[in-house]
Amino acid sequence: MKVLVAYATAHGSTAEVAERISSALQKHGINATAANVQNLASVEGYDAFILGTAVHAGTWLPDMTAFIKRTAPGMGLKPIYLWVNCIRILEQFGYDHVVEYYMVPEVLDGLNVREKIAFAGKLRLDEVDWNERWTLAARYDGATWPSNFDGDFRDWDKIGEWAGKIAGELTGEAPKSQ
Ligand SMILES: Cc1cc2nc3c(=O)[nH]c(=O)nc-3n(C[C@H](O)[C@H](O)[C@H](O)COP(=O)(O)O)c2cc1C
Repeated sequence: MKVLVAYATAHGSTAEVAERISSALQKHGINATAANVQNLASVEGYDAFILGTAVHAGTWLPDMTAFIKRTAPGMGLKPIYLWVNCIRILEQFGYDHVVEYYMVPEVLDGLNVREKIAFAGKLRLDEVDWNERWTLAARYDGATWPSNFDGDFRDWDKIGEWAGKIAGELTGEAPKSQ
């Protein structure tokens, strides 16, 4: 079983999540590879896909959308699991907002998406440039200031648990999620 964990990142924290998921799958005997969507021209040879993106200005990084559009025929009806890394989830009713607005269903039409999930991400204001600060100030779609979420909020236990569940499904050790 070959699984591709493909990610879109601006500051690297989503890449680290992808690496963690990939190592967790490997511990279950799955041949998993984590790769930046920018470096993936084809998805040939993989049996399943785990896709993850950071969110900017209320939407996925454009790299992920472009990747899905160009590789959808190659993914066909193989299983896909999707996650987003964001900070909006940390606000009150954040998860509901993320599920409603950040999951970009159109681009997933016709694909075999087994599960979509959102994780809290990482934002270091001292690492974002002035353009990004402007985007954050003007286009972050939350109800509070994004500067309230300056830190690393990734929950590695939750991420590991999700990866373990996917590994179980893909290797037939556990029932598929709904
Ligand atoms: C310029 C900018 C805009 C962002 N806009 C949003 C947003 O609209 N909603 C949100 O939930 N998170 C937003 N974030 C937070 C990122 O999605 C989050 O920090 C993510 O973990 C970053 O992943 P990365 O390190 O892989 O780039 C923004 C971050 C930056 C730098």
